[in-house]
Amino acid sequence: MLGTQLQAFFLVSDDMMDASITRRGQPCWYRNPQVGNIAINDSFMLEAAIYYLFRKHFRNEKYYADLLDLMHETTFQTEMGQLVDLITAPEDHVDLSKFSLEKHQFIVLYKTAFYSFYLPVVMALLFVSPENPAVASPESLQASKDILLPLGEYFQVQDDFLDCFGTPEQIGKIGTDILDNKCSWLINVALKHANAEQRKVLDESYGRKDHEKEAKVKKIYAELDLIGKYNAYEKESYDKVTGLINKLPENGPLKREIFLSFLNKIYKRTK
Ligand code: IPE
Ligand code: MN
Ligand code: MN
Repeated sequence: MLGTQLQAFFLVSDDMMDASITRRGQPCWYRNPQVGNIAINDSFMLEAAIYYLFRKHFRNEKYYADLLDLMHETTFQTEMGQLVDLITAPEDHVDLSKFSLEKHQFIVLYKTAFYSFYLPVVMALLFVSPENPAVASPESLQASKDILLPLGEYFQVQDDFLDCFGTPEQIGKIGTDILDNKCSWLINVALKHANAEQRKVLDESYGRKDHEKEAKVKKIYAELDLIGKYNAYEKESYDKVTGLINKLPENGPLKREIFLSFLNKIYKRTK
């Protein structure tokens, strides 16, 4: 519930910043004629409601301060990620030589991994910490982070892939990454493999607000077999995260099942 609230705050503002059209199969909130820029204030109110609910339900718990700290820090990390995502994708100046998989990794770690994966698990650990303090020890939090951040990175690569190769019916939104000049996983992998001719098309067509140019980029993605490269990445990530989970001590405070169930929820997702 509280994670959902934070997610709503980020998505309402993200859709405005990315000029998105639909979300969860409906027009983005700001696109309702009676809403428009009021969506900015709505996103602030969604965020404020988190703290209202925290106070109402957890004010007297001894983990209250930790919960507030976690939420504040995660929000700040996500906002830094969104900032780098946006300034790496200027609307009026396309320069693909500025992209790299390293930059992509930084962006997705901050904009997605902390809030989508680390935050909900640590919140749950805090909630059970009065009965079981070991689950929220510094060591347990670090061990969780070591698994959840790579998992979150993998999740955002899936999001980048589906932006182009998922259908709006599957993903409930219309992809905008090519039009928006985003430093997506797909463009970075394409840049690594493109020949001179393909590179020229990418330079001329990426990040322009033009659907014909967007189609040219998608054609290069197909030529470079980005679907095959993504399938290989997906398998590699699955094996890597499984390996990290299996390093957790069998009888330690953290149950492997928590992480395995997360991983299996997203493995090969198409929505
Ligand atoms: C945004 O990433 C992550 C946050 C909302 C913080 P994207 O911009 O790729 O998300 P979608 O594709 O619009 O859902
Ligand atoms: Mn977006
Ligand atoms: Mn996306």
